[in-house]
Amino acid sequence: MGRRPIAAMLLAFALLVVSTLDAWAVPPWEAANPIKPLPAPPLGIHSKFETLPTPPTPERVRLGRWLFFDKRLSADNTLSCASCHQPEHAFSELTPHSTGIRGQQGARKAPSFVNLAWTIFPHFFWDGRAASLEEQALGPIANPIEMGSTHAAMVKTCQTRGYAPYFKEAFGADEITQERVVHAIADYERTRMSGNSPVDRWQIGKDESAVSAEVKQGWQLFFGKAECGLCHIGENFTDSLFHNLGIGWDPQKQEFKDVGRYAISKKDEDRGAFKTPGLREVAKHPPYMHDGSLATLEAVVEHYNKGGNPNPQLSARIHKLGLSQPEVQALVKFMEALSGEGYADTAPAAFPE
Ligand code: HEC
Ligand code: HEC
Repeated sequence: MGRRPIAAMLLAFALLVVSTLDAWAVPPWEAANPIKPLPAPPLGIHSKFETLPTPPTPERVRLGRWLFFDKRLSADNTLSCASCHQPEHAFSELTPHSTGIRGQQGARKAPSFVNLAWTIFPHFFWDGRAASLEEQALGPIANPIEMGSTHAAMVKTCQTRGYAPYFKEAFGADEITQERVVHAIADYERTRMSGNSPVDRWQIGKDESAVSAEVKQGWQLFFGKAECGLCHIGENFTDSLFHNLGIGWDPQKQEFKDVGRYAISKKDEDRGAFKTPGLREVAKHPPYMHDGSLATLEAVVEHYNKGGNPNPQLSARIHKLGLSQPEVQALVKFMEALSGEGYADTAPAAFPE
């Protein structure tokens, strides 16, 4: 044998060793979910992670991404957060009500969430009963009709399913606590942003060709005649406050199917009031409202146009608008032009073992 073939064999052997070591060094679940730098906020989102009291870190976001998509966190291994908060629907879903473990039906629509790192007021859930994303995430895990687990079981799952090194990586200590689980999930959620929509490219990018004349008319109406901007304000188009539009009012029984904010505040004026949802990506997740009772954006605008559903607590801001059909359509087109980018994701192909 000459020198060349020997050298080639040695090289091939060395490559084999290196690639085996490599495969050992990076388990498939790490390859499927590498640590990435925090994403930059897209056009239209002026908020910055650095302004948050505890900004997310790439390590916590990686851990949170696994946990968000990991079905092993539910009581019967069938549901993850992403089962109801589907990335392709801006983290909402296309059904009026969510279906929890063992097919149990909830009463409210799973809200979409993008740009939730920055809210005008820290109110989460339709009735605002959670004051942070962390507190929020504790809810569904232990909710018997959502993921049906317990916080203790969730911590145990993380301990026995190979997560310990990633808690150490994210928090500097092996110890797995429920606070750390939800902190990591919340940090993942905080990185799901939406911007660079046609409206952003027009309004901020000053590109007059980014949207149609109809969308421009819709913008005028939204902040003018139709008064939508009274409540849907700021870069995420929400004041994060509670208002009554009469959704879910039963005129026969003279009561609300769901009292909404009242259950938390116990103030009479909050009966039937729900949190204003943000409108970015709104076209991605019909049906609409806390009960998913309005099938299309057009139906939503018609609801406002007719002055909502009259009831004793109807918001003083809701009244007949007198919008023509072309004006209704322009508002719909405007809302459709709020679909952008920055939140897309898919479940990691592998999870820690
Ligand atoms: C079975 C379906 C289901 C599962 C599973 C689920 N959620 Fe939800 N989620 C909902 C519904 C329904 C609501 C609204 C409930 C309410 O307002 O009372 C909600 C509300 C939220 C909100 C509030 C958004 C806002 O703008 O106020 C966030 C954030 C959220 N869920 C995150 C999560 C996380 C994190 C997980 C996993 C730990 C999770 N959800 C699991 C259905 C689900
Ligand atoms: C008084 C405050 C207020 C005004 C004015 C207002 N909204 Fe809303 N909007 C809300 C609240 C609160 C909800 C949720 C109500 C519920 O679920 O019961 C909502 C829900 C929506 C939704 C459903 C989003 C989803 O995720 O389900 C859309 C779309 C919407 N509004 C668009 C508009 C448009 C267009 C206008 C103007 C014609 C408008 N809003 C005016 C407060 C307001």
